[in-house]
Amino acid sequence: MEVLKQKIREQGVVISDNVLKLDALLNHQIDPALTMQMGREFAAKFSEDGVTRIITVESSGIPVAFATAAEMGVPLVFARRKKTLLADPDAYCERVPSFTKGIVTDIMVSREFIGPEDRILFIDDIIANGDAAKGVIKIIERSGAELVGFGVVVEKCFQSGASTLREQGIRVESLAKIKSLSDGKVHFD
Ligand code: G4P
Ligand code: NA
Ligand code: NA
Repeated sequence: MEVLKQKIREQGVVISDNVLKLDALLNHQIDPALTMQMGREFAAKFSEDGVTRIITVESSGIPVAFATAAEMGVPLVFARRKKTLLADPDAYCERVPSFTKGIVTDIMVSREFIGPEDRILFIDDIIANGDAAKGVIKIIERSGAELVGFGVVVEKCFQSGASTLREQGIRVESLAKIKSLSDGKVHFD
């Protein structure tokens, strides 16, 4: 998606060879027009898949997941993060490590909002190692729903998350693929 790549070039800040700050468009400020455009892009890619629900994780996945859900005319469910989680029989819970943050969080989705009759499209902002993504996918599997694919705004190709999901047979569609952040610059695939 060329307009997105242009925005990333203009507004992204390369912090290191591994980390690209995208606060100006994904993680702190939202560009509504661009976000709606991203939603249309995902909706078009998965238009033939009989999607019944969108799922994402709070917080940064929500705007683009909402835009996709609005375009497809289906509900959006966002997995919630909890610092501590008591066993909850009414919810699917998964523990998610974050190597970049060095912490563990629990994500949860109520059994009320996903089930075996669902065909779910998972949308997120960035995939790096994919730990959060793996947790969400486990929850989808446990619910008996079908995962039709994963749409992600930014894929960091030099980390293993997206390729691992593809190896598992999951359809992954990214709007911008970053192959490296060397020399303080964003290099797209
Ligand atoms: P993973 O989810 O792919 O495993 O990534 P990892 O554990 O490495 O990263 C944890 C958080 O950091 C995730 O946000 C992920 O989107 C974000 N992240 C990873 N690499 C980058 C990067 O280069 N730039 C930016 N801006 N973010 C990155 P999160 O914990 O889901 O938080 P939230 O943003 O949804 O609140
Ligand atoms: Na994030
Ligand atoms: Na996210």
